[in-house]
Amino acid sequence: MTGPVPLRLWDGVVRLSHWAFAALVPLLWWSAETDRLDLHKRLGLAMLAVLLVRLGWGLVGSDTARFARFLKGPQAIRQWLAAGKPAVAGHNPLGGWSVAALLGLLSLQVSLGLITEDTDGLESGPLNHYVSYDVASLAREGHELVFNLLLGMIALHLAAIAWYRFARRDNLVPAMLTGRRAFDPPLPQPRMAPAWRALVLAAIAGLAVWWVAQGAPLPF
Ligand code: HEM
Ligand code: HEM
Repeated sequence: MTGPVPLRLWDGVVRLSHWAFAALVPLLWWSAETDRLDLHKRLGLAMLAVLLVRLGWGLVGSDTARFARFLKGPQAIRQWLAAGKPAVAGHNPLGGWSVAALLGLLSLQVSLGLITEDTDGLESGPLNHYVSYDVASLAREGHELVFNLLLGMIALHLAAIAWYRFARRDNLVPAMLTGRRAFDPPLPQPRMAPAWRALVLAAIAGLAVWWVAQGAPLPF
């Protein structure tokens, strides 16, 4: 007898962006805390590039990456809970919202970083010249506050994964590494997007970040 056949669950874009987020957040914290702000800003721009690719992939990527597939309304969440939380080939209806919260907080944190200015006015984000001193000050407070919210959300994320591991004896991590996962009973293979779309997105994100790094100059 053969066991359940593994599906292709998380494509390369989801996995690469995921592990880039997990590496960049601690590096961004460390570089800010040790006053390496040049490095911090470069890493922040790398974070912007990864986020742009992942957000774009949420619109044109594989089924399991698409926002329209995993962001469900309250009725779908209730049905999924009432059915005893069956396995889903992708983010489940509750997990989907925690993904949205993580990506939303990361986007907010990057946006605030782009316009912030430190207290002595020596270090600022590349788009700081577009905002007033007061707005930059608010952005500085926001950049600190949203970082703490992000830490809370990441703690919840890791706690949820540990809960699955120990309470439900379900280790979700290998699928985020290999991309594959077997379901028993089997589930249909989600549609995977072609690699050229990811390359086009990466090129667009690269150009956008290069433009932002120049201070986003306008032609008029
Ligand atoms: C700064 C740290 C982290 C951030 C910001 C983060 C963020 C995310 C995001 C945004 C997703 C959704 C993936 C997508 O659809 O693009 C996700 C999923 C996931 N993450 Fe993380 N993550 C972090 C750390 C970790 C760590 C350290 C682990 C492993 C121990 C991990 C394991 C997973 C797993 C297994 C999933 C898939 C969950 C599922 O099956 O629905 N994450 N994470
Ligand atoms: C997810 C991405 C980011 C994280 C997690 C992050 C985290 C942090 C943290 C923890 C601090 C120290 C805050 C404090 O205690 O005062 C900081 C400061 C700073 N960050 Fe970021 N940052 C991110 C993105 C960015 C980006 C994209 C830029 C600009 C390109 C940027 C520019 C700055 C600057 C100029 C400061 C010093 C001024 C201030 O405190 O606001 N950051 N960041």
